Amino acid sequence: MSTRAPATVAAASNAPFVWGVSTSSYQIEGAAAEDGKGPSIWDAYCRQPGRITDNDTGDVACDHYHRYREDVALMKALGVGAYRFSVSWPRVLPKGRGAANEPGLAFYDRLIDELLAAGIEPWLCLYHWDLPQALGDLGGWASRDTAFWFADYAALIARRYGDRVKRFATFNESSVFTLFGFVMGGQAPGIVDRDLFHRAIHHVNLGHGLAIDVLRANVKDASLGIVHNIQPCRPATPAPEDVKAAALFDAYWNGAFADPQILGVYPSLIADLILPWAQAGDLAKICRPIDWFGLNHYSPHYMKAGDGNPLGVAWGPAPESVRRTAMGWPIEPDAFRDTLVFLSDRYRLPVYVLENGTANPDVVDAKGEVHDPSRIDYLKAYIGALGEARAAGADVRGYFIWSLLDNFEWGSGYSQRFGIVHVDYATGKRTPKASYHWYADLIRAQAAGPRAVSPPLVAVS
Ligand code: BGC
Repeated sequence: MSTRAPATVAAASNAPFVWGVSTSSYQIEGAAAEDGKGPSIWDAYCRQPGRITDNDTGDVACDHYHRYREDVALMKALGVGAYRFSVSWPRVLPKGRGAANEPGLAFYDRLIDELLAAGIEPWLCLYHWDLPQALGDLGGWASRDTAFWFADYAALIARRYGDRVKRFATFNESSVFTLFGFVMGGQAPGIVDRDLFHRAIHHVNLGHGLAIDVLRANVKDASLGIVHNIQPCRPATPAPEDVKAAALFDAYWNGAFADPQILGVYPSLIADLILPWAQAGDLAKICRPIDWFGLNHYSPHYMKAGDGNPLGVAWGPAPESVRRTAMGWPIEPDAFRDTLVFLSDRYRLPVYVLENGTANPDVVDAKGEVHDPSRIDYLKAYIGALGEARAAGADVRGYFIWSLLDNFEWGSGYSQRFGIVHVDYATGKRTPKASYHWYADLIRAQAAGPRAVSPPLVAVS
């Protein structure tokens, strides 16, 4: 994403605005080896000592696999119109390809039916990082074959659920799982190799395009998209090497997937590194029409030159004046507004914010309540910024909080709580936090009339 000032965009549509919440399979389901599920690369990665804070795993997580009815009831009481979740590929295809696992497929039937009965639209994401380990053993995303196995998996999902689910996303945050999984460290499969990283980028892009065609062919009235994590990449200092590092990181983080998928080209800074892994005609297969752009946004990156990984980039300090979340991430709602305007202008697709939120060290107090005023402040500021983006003409049509539940926060294990519902991991007990009640009030207020808001959207206190 360039750091230029946001351009003026065409007037936003008056399409209905949807309020939702998001989760992902590995982070909440648990039941890691139940009912025929195969292992994922995250099951394997968590077993490597020292990878995850406290050596936590997703073995039980929020036990959503068994408690999904309770979780859907929480969403119904919250008043959301939509729920974004992901399917665990190894739960439905234990070896990633070949024989499907009927009990695994039946779990998502039950979940989808429960959501529909509650009046909540299911938004199904095919891939939120839990690749079947059996495919990881064959090279995972570094292997071109994985793109085709992903398309086969998409066909299975489309045919099974396409009668009831219309909203599909192919991938969640391709830049994050390829950067951290293949070159910078910190995520499964834990590889640090520049060439494998570039191959993985291209194969994920190819898998996206192939899956879009499969979904379109198999789901009547499908509404298709992909979820990208887009954050401005700013140099931590004006030093030329830091400016260069920020530009390179921007090309990988913000451009390496959205640009070929929607514009049909790789960013010029990195094209020569990726195209050697492409075959003739690949870009046309990658750049297939989609219906919306899914945005996950948390905070801008401040980057500097560094020698700790093969890309030569590292995180630098954010300006002293910027406040931070419990994750240490800068709180800058203006960057969110500018990102929304920028995306709407650049890709000319309706934008749905499919993740935004913050971690807090939340505790249940003596009265059994959880007070999280700093999360409410964060949400107010970011939803306010979304309203400003709409007022500036950005076509933003939905906002989903990350996350419904406290959950397994990848390398941080259970040490970081992103939920608007507190989870006691020892008992599984759910306690809606003050932010849950605040969000319910907001949704109710905005829905006074139809479940739609016209720009500008204004957060209520
Ligand atoms: C991911 C989530 C994650 C959240 C907070 C996003 O990068 O999609 O899985 O929990 O951010 O870190």
